[in-house]
Amino acid sequence: MSAGGGEFIDLARVICRESDLEVTGTRAFTLGRGDWPLKGFVVRSGATVHAYVNRCPHAGHPLDLVPGRFLTADGTLLLCASHGALFEKSTGLCLAGPCAGRSLTPVPVRVRSGLVMLEDGAEPEALAAALDPAPQGY
Ligand code: FES
Repeated sequence: MSAGGGEFIDLARVICRESDLEVTGTRAFTLGRGDWPLKGFVVRSGATVHAYVNRCPHAGHPLDLVPGRFLTADGTLLLCASHGALFEKSTGLCLAGPCAGRSLTPVPVRVRSGLVMLEDGAEPEALAAALDPAPQGY
């Protein structure tokens, strides 16, 4: 796809439109192929967009027990609904809960032509393969 000015957009690296974040501020995504694609989510924090692997450092569960719901009720923090861990949106650091002091795994993204995209050079398969196979546990 060519954006304005002839810029080439690699559609395989597009996660969502930036405007998709307007309502809830978050969006789940799956990138890559095969049995173990990269499952993550995007979150807006102020004017910046961040992305993380959808895998809690506590027991490895997806954060969104209710699919697509990643935030606390007031929208200020990320919440893992399994056991209540709370994470900072801008860093992925766990501020409270069973994995306090640990962090979500960041996914490098950038906004380009209104699209949230995986950064050049970042490969979904490599990011998925680099995950700790045995998180902290219960
Ligand atoms: S798996 Fe996230 S708090 Fe336990």
